[in-house]
Formats: sequence, C-alpha cells, structure tokens
Amino acid sequence: MKVKLHYQKYFFFIMMFVSTETLCQTTPKNKDEVYRPQIHFSPETNWVNDPNGMVYHKGVYHLFYQHHPYSSVWGPMHWGHATSRDLISWKHQPIAIYPDSTGTIFSGSAVVDKTNTTGFGKKGQAPLVAIYTSHNYKGEKEGRSDFQNQSIAYSNDEGKTWIKYSGNPVLKNPGITDFRDPKVMWYEPKKKWVMTLATKDRITFYSSPDLKKWSKESEFGKEVGAHGGVWECPDLFTLDDNGKKVWVLIVSINPGGPNKGSATQYFIGDFNGKTFTPSHTDTRWIDYGPDNYAGITWSNTGNRKIFLGWMSNWLYAQVVPTETWRNAMTIPRELKIKHVGKDIFIASLPVSELSRLQSQPVSISNLKINNRIDIAGKTGKVTLPCRINLSIDTIKDFSLIVSNDEGEELIIGFDKQHNQYFINRTKSGKIDFQKEFAARHTAPRFTNNNKMNISLIIDVSSVELFADDGLSVMTEVFFPNKLYNQVHIQSSESILIKKLEYISLKSNR
Ligand code: FRU
Repeated sequence: MKVKLHYQKYFFFIMMFVSTETLCQTTPKNKDEVYRPQIHFSPETNWVNDPNGMVYHKGVYHLFYQHHPYSSVWGPMHWGHATSRDLISWKHQPIAIYPDSTGTIFSGSAVVDKTNTTGFGKKGQAPLVAIYTSHNYKGEKEGRSDFQNQSIAYSNDEGKTWIKYSGNPVLKNPGITDFRDPKVMWYEPKKKWVMTLATKDRITFYSSPDLKKWSKESEFGKEVGAHGGVWECPDLFTLDDNGKKVWVLIVSINPGGPNKGSATQYFIGDFNGKTFTPSHTDTRWIDYGPDNYAGITWSNTGNRKIFLGWMSNWLYAQVVPTETWRNAMTIPRELKIKHVGKDIFIASLPVSELSRLQSQPVSISNLKINNRIDIAGKTGKVTLPCRINLSIDTIKDFSLIVSNDEGEELIIGFDKQHNQYFINRTKSGKIDFQKEFAARHTAPRFTNNNKMNISLIIDVSSVELFADDGLSVMTEVFFPNKLYNQVHIQSSESILIKKLEYISLKSNR
C-alpha cells in the first residue's frame, strides 16, 4: 500500500520537475500568501511533510522536517531546518541533510549524545546525532524490498552542519518494504540506545551501545491497534502519572485514520528495555481531526513532553490550494496523562509559550445563547489568528461558526446525542481539489463530567480544537475564498456559557 503511495508521490515529483520552470514564470509570487499560517511553522517556500530530528539543545529547539526544496509537491526528501527558543517563533536555517548515494533522507530523530558513545564528539562537547532512513529510490523502482535502511549523521556545531557517518547504513533492511522512521532514545537503566522503528504493520525495537551497531530486541503491534494502513513515524517515551512513570508508544498510520486518511494512534503501557506491553487493547488517537500526522516529541526536554505534528493528510496534502509553499506544522502541544474513571488517556494542550502571542483576553461571563450570537458584537471585533476559550456548565448541542460574507463557513461544535465533538468543513471555501476534503469529522467525548471546556486556536487556514482539558483533540485545515472574519455561537437549546474568552494572537512571522 505504501509502495503504491510512494509511486504516487514520485508521479507528482516528476510532473513538477517537468513543470517547475513554467510554474515559476506564470505564478505570481506570493499569490497564496493569504493562506500562510500566521502562528504555525511553515516552510519559507515549497514542500513540507513530517517533523524530524526534533531535539532541544543548549536552549534551542531544533525542528528538522521532510522537505522538497525545489517543488511544492513531495519528491526527493531533504531535512529542512528551523530553530526556536520558545517553540513559537521559528528562524529558518539552511537545509541540514541532503540526499546521497544511499538515498534520499526520510524521517527520523536526533539525540544529544551526552556521554559521547559514538566518539563523534570533539573537545569534550556532546555531539548531536541524527538517525534517519535512507530511501533508495532506484532500489524501490527495481522492485527490491530492502530499499529503506537506517543511517546516521552528526553535528559538532549545534546542528548547523552535519557529517554523514562513513559506515552508513548502520541498520540494514532484512527485506521489509516499509522499514523506516527511526526514533531513538537513551534507556538509562541498561545504559543503551533504543530505536523504535516502523516496520510495515508493526513496530520493531532495536538497541545499541553506540548508535552504530544495532541488535533486534522485539516486535510489537501486529495484532493490536489500527491496521487500516502502513505504520509510520513511531515514538516511545515516558509520561509522569502522579509520580509514577508510564510508557507511551505513538504510531502514525496511513491510511486508516478515524476520519479517513492519515492519523496517529497511541498505546499506553510498559517498556522494560526490550519489549513494550500495552495496558489496553482499544485503539486511541492522539488527535481525531484529519490534519495531524507523523507527530513525535522533542528529545532532551526532561520530563516535559512536547509533541508536534504535520498539519495535513496524505489524502490531499499535495493538492491543497497553495503553490509557492505547501503545508505546515500544528501548534506544539504538551502531552500529559489524564485519568477518566479506570481508564488512562493522553491529553494534549497547546504549549504555554503560545501566551507570548496572546493579547489581553476579552472576557465575557454568563453569556446566554438562545439562538445565535455574534461574538464580535460582544468582544468588539474578531480577527484571525485568535484563540477562543469557552467554559460551559451544561452539556448541550452547540455550534461555533467561523465565516466570511461570501457565505463560507467552518462549523465546530458538540453533538450531545452522539456525545461527539465535530468540525464540518463542507462549506468552508475551496473544497473541490480532492473529493474527501469536504467532510464533517467527529471526535468522541471521553469524560462524563457535566462541565465542558474548549479551547480553539484559529489561524487563517487551520483550526485546532482542544476539549475537556485536551482529552478530545481535532485539527483541520481550510481554504476560504475570502478570509473568515466572523464568529457566531449557535444553539437550538438555551445554553449558558459560563465564560467566553476571545484572545487575539499576534502573528509570529
Ligand atoms: C510519513 C512518511 C514517512 C516517511 C516520509 C517520507 O508521512 O511517509 O514514513 O519517512 O513520510 O517523506
């Protein structure tokens, strides 16, 4: 299935290769800047997919990413690079890792090799080491099954320049067509590196003393979780659960997501340095919306776990209506464990650093909705990007409608009968670039609490919904013909909003 997808990706790449010249001449520069996210990371130009190599080092968050520097569709992957001191304002950096004779540079991770296990460090300084998949397109075309192998590169200048290890690849493919996206962590009890690798329909764990020699430890997941597509971009880490450590395994899957196409599932359980044992058998998603894929966490951030996803879906990522640049990342989110009855879940909330872009909240208490209320009438104005926080004391149907005066709208709401949050983008503007884009998507509500809180981050072409302290999350992109400039709240029942906060967000560009 994935092999087919890669041909599809390459088809776009070849088409673009043929037409790039024409496109550059005929496309007015910045024509689609209207959709340029104002508070989310997007590449300066051209294509982006998965976040890669996310590592915190010497006060700087590094974000590498799957990047095609010469086209706005997927093609020969490079690692693009950006840095930030606050996870919110990003500085574009030169391309970090270029394709070579072992292949193009697919997804992977980066670590700080604190004790210099690799010997790559110089003058007592810990090197940064990137572990990624070398994807050999020629091998794939020839019908071989071993065209994806794991390689490493290191940097002794804080990620500015990278030297590829001469012994690459460090982990050779045993004959599995989908053998990629290594996420590496240091496992302190056994003083070894652990690699979590996506291997088609399961995860394979490997370990190493020095990031160069790898031994297989175990496999996980063939019989568990969602299997509607190929497994990709895993992550393994711990979260604090009231002073106890629980292990979390994240696995992206494409297709087969809860709202079609790409999505990211997670498992909570235990890991003993060799095997992962889940504590539940049901399938859970980190985000139920269609536009959060291939997300992983930053390494070297101590107990704080910060997650970032690619804000798109392979169903339409290559045809969304922007051409000079294409796609963006979600808002970085902090992951926490949350208990609901006997169950434990992962909750995600926007990182607190987002407050740096927030202006003084306009706050309204005890807002009664009988039919439909124009938020601007209460707050003075509504402009994007913004954050809207709602706390409601009764659980009833309601919708929040973000719209323009062309009659285009995005509806975000709660459906009490089905106990679901939803986002409906069927009338959101440009929708016909792909047949599955215009849809109503849903996310279950997990808590029985009779109070509800919702936080919405609305950028010019995306919305992120965090409900019930981040237990139900949805991310969606949209492309109105004219930017949205109105927000209404609507309910067929009478509903009392305990508190509504409208917070305008400053652009970070
Ligand atoms: C996920 C993915 C990864 C792969 C990369 C290629 O979106 O397919 O599995 O490494 O994209 O760009």
